[in-house]
Amino acid sequence: MRLGPSLFRMTLLSAAAMVLAPAPATAQAMLQPPPKAMPANPTVDQTDWWKRGIIYEVYPRSFADSNNDGIGDIQGITRHLDYIQSLGADAIWMTPMFPSPQADFGYDVADYDNVDPQFGTVADVDQLVAQGKARGVKLLLDFVVNHTSDQHPWFQQSKSSRTNPYRDYYVWRDPKPDGSPPNNWASIFGGSAWTLDPTTRQYYYHFFYPQQPDLNWRNPKVEKAMFDAAEWWLKRGVYGYRLDAVDTMFERPDLKDNKVYPGVDAFGVPNQDHVNNSKQPEVHTELQRLRQMVIDKYPGRILVGETWTSDAQELVQYYGPRNNELQLPMFLNLISLPALTAPDLRQRITGVETNSVGGWPSFALSNHDSRRVASRYPVPAGASTDDWAKITGALLLTLRGTPVLYYGEELGMVNNDPQRIEDVQDVIGKKGWPKEKGRDGERTPMQWDASVNAGFNAGAKPWLPVSADYATRNVAAERADPKSVLNFYRTLIAERRGNPALAGEMTMVDRANPNVLSYVRSGGGRKVLTVLNFGGAASDLTLAQLGGGKFGRVIVQNRATMSSTGIHLAPLGVLVVEIG
Ligand code: GLC
Ligand code: CA
Repeated sequence: MRLGPSLFRMTLLSAAAMVLAPAPATAQAMLQPPPKAMPANPTVDQTDWWKRGIIYEVYPRSFADSNNDGIGDIQGITRHLDYIQSLGADAIWMTPMFPSPQADFGYDVADYDNVDPQFGTVADVDQLVAQGKARGVKLLLDFVVNHTSDQHPWFQQSKSSRTNPYRDYYVWRDPKPDGSPPNNWASIFGGSAWTLDPTTRQYYYHFFYPQQPDLNWRNPKVEKAMFDAAEWWLKRGVYGYRLDAVDTMFERPDLKDNKVYPGVDAFGVPNQDHVNNSKQPEVHTELQRLRQMVIDKYPGRILVGETWTSDAQELVQYYGPRNNELQLPMFLNLISLPALTAPDLRQRITGVETNSVGGWPSFALSNHDSRRVASRYPVPAGASTDDWAKITGALLLTLRGTPVLYYGEELGMVNNDPQRIEDVQDVIGKKGWPKEKGRDGERTPMQWDASVNAGFNAGAKPWLPVSADYATRNVAAERADPKSVLNFYRTLIAERRGNPALAGEMTMVDRANPNVLSYVRSGGGRKVLTVLNFGGAASDLTLAQLGGGKFGRVIVQNRATMSSTGIHLAPLGVLVVEIG
């Protein structure tokens, strides 16, 4: 069952890109070996700790379930810190674990200063921070800035009367004279973005689910309350935030209708561009204030952005005019490509390279909202999803910039999509079935070993089913296999940390090649060549065409053979090699 990028992903992309036409269809506590110390990259300033290794995204519900109730939890993550350290991660980005009705699995926060009992306690977070610190692994939390849960006390107050002091924490408007919503804005999760509150007879605005009312960032009290929440965790030793859904923090004050285009989205709502309710200029001013007034008070703390930009020009705006906004606006553009081709990748990566001058790039290929990259694209004859995992891993881990790796990506985990609507957990899958099956497929339990439930827990039914391939695709099995996806990733991550070339310049070579993407990284007097065959056929290349020199030490290779002067690559073939 290989679907293209799901409609949710396309919808998100089109919202972010403000497209001018509808988007085209386009055993628990594992025995770990003693952790190896990861080399520090000598060419990187140590205060810029986030430039060295990788950021590892952990979805707590799905990572490890320490108390065997079917739901992953914070203590589960702490138990596996040795593993995370051994991968070479500098930081964990933990998706929301705050108290929440879980309408959007934690992205509906009911209290920013606390932990949902199903995930643990504040003391558990403190322990994760402390144990992480002992291993050089920092913790980043997910700051849901656009909206709260409708169960948040602020919203409960806000909806209680039109004169309540919290009324203006959210976006309330009168109905049109005929009783309909104030304008035509659609929620990205289906239906109108406005819900009528029967008590006060006004509509409130929500870009996502009705259970996720948008905060009114034009109200200084909202800014103060949210900045205080951000600081609360920094004081506990958290190293910063991944900022959720930043694009939608502000809406056009005059509520101008969005332009509508032919066709309907997965939920049957007419397509529209979200030009008036996303990417307003105030977003940048506000993020710069967050950086200056909160983050910069604590040395070394960072902001990572969920920045769904249409291109690199738009992305660079998130660094701020004086690098005073986000340190790491993630370039998520590569996630939404309907296919990975050498020319397209070359053009987009070059775009980031040439535009992010002064800023440090950050790339991701998978996350909890997107189909897992190993099973996102058709597999060429003779190849496997592991080969996709290797070529995409080689790309992600040799680019200039900080890679954000989604848990299980390093194992080549594949999507495990629900087959029946009764099994769907994600509301967008329930609403959009069968066109939109939701995001359950990429959120299934981490595969630790071949024991019951892949070692996710001690046998209770996990909230989502473990993927059928777990007996062979798991940390324990892959650790023992030198040719595994895991060892391929570990080798590359260690190289990133230890080889100054991978912290240095990036030069595209063989630039007209329609099938093979090649580039040289150089720094500290060393050079690393990466060659990736995204074409459907085998390809032969000479070293001369790749910029010359001599082959040195091979860092990783897959479906590739070398002679003294050239390389032969099967489809999805990869070579990462030092050049003398
Ligand atoms: C972001 C999150 C996604 C969530 C949405 C609404 O896109 O990554 O999982 O559903 O924001 O909070
Ligand atoms: Ca649990």
